[in-house]
Amino acid sequence: MTAETRVVTSRSGLRSAYDALPSGTRRAVVLTMGALHSGHAHLVREARARVGVDGHVTVSVFVNPTQFAAGEDLERYPRRLEDDVAVCAREGADLVFAPSVETVYRDGSPSVTVDPGSLGTLLEGAVRPGHFRGVLTVVHKLLSLTRPDLVLFGEKDYQQLVLVRRMVRDLDLPVEVVGVATVRADDGLALSSRNAYLSDAGRRTALAVPRALVIGAEAAREQGSARDVVSSVQTYLDAVADLVTDYAVVTDPELGAPPEVGEARLLIAVRVGPVRLLDNARVVLAGAS
Ligand code: PAJ
Repeated sequence: MTAETRVVTSRSGLRSAYDALPSGTRRAVVLTMGALHSGHAHLVREARARVGVDGHVTVSVFVNPTQFAAGEDLERYPRRLEDDVAVCAREGADLVFAPSVETVYRDGSPSVTVDPGSLGTLLEGAVRPGHFRGVLTVVHKLLSLTRPDLVLFGEKDYQQLVLVRRMVRDLDLPVEVVGVATVRADDGLALSSRNAYLSDAGRRTALAVPRALVIGAEAAREQGSARDVVSSVQTYLDAVADLVTDYAVVTDPELGAPPEVGEARLLIAVRVGPVRLLDNARVVLAGAS
């Protein structure tokens, strides 16, 4: 698709782009921090498919400082807007919103923020205190600025997706949240901008993560309980050299306690050298025999 993709950086640019649309135009938004890869591209494609040719697709590109803790990779997070705009154009986006930090946080750090509640302190939230407060606050702001009918998030960041759904429900935000399946490389590794930091050997090590998800799904089918799934995944990962497991857990689809049988989620976070990798998959627990 050779769409005409406009880039705006200001709040007024955004408003006038939307004001020019025929009333009733269905609008979708994909929120990103840029450095777009095929996973992001898939979200944009899905956004286009959902709103149709007459709909409107906005992609935001904003590296949000408030979701990075001190010592994380904010400064070295890749920024390449030109390439990102090319990806958006290829996937048929109409508009790229690429605001500066000063545009988004015009009064400096916000004093009112979104509290992610207890879910925000688990898993990624335990390893990265304050992360989900930063994420939900910027997602709320970007939704308020863009006011879409639907917003798309990847299942890759499963806890983020669950928390955004929760925020939308708890705060009655007028938007539909669409979750999109994780896009993987041919070798099974979930696409992530952080994969670029892996050495060749690191990447081979990292393949243990998608393999662990397959092992977990098998254990769910064959042995049946959440505990069986966790122990087979943990045993497998423990035997992988140069890989440290931060967590391997089974939850219900909303990240609560796992059910005895039926649909559940297996979530894994590991470190391969300095690179932290996240992945997750749906598993169906057959129930303890
Ligand atoms: P970012 O990491 O750029 O991701 C933007 C969106 O792309 C998220 O919804 C993420 O889940 C999705 N995504 C990333 N890798 C994917 C993959 N392999 N397959 C499918 N979807 C994938 O997530 C963020 O940015 C930020 O926290 C943000 C929501 C923009 C708030 O700052």
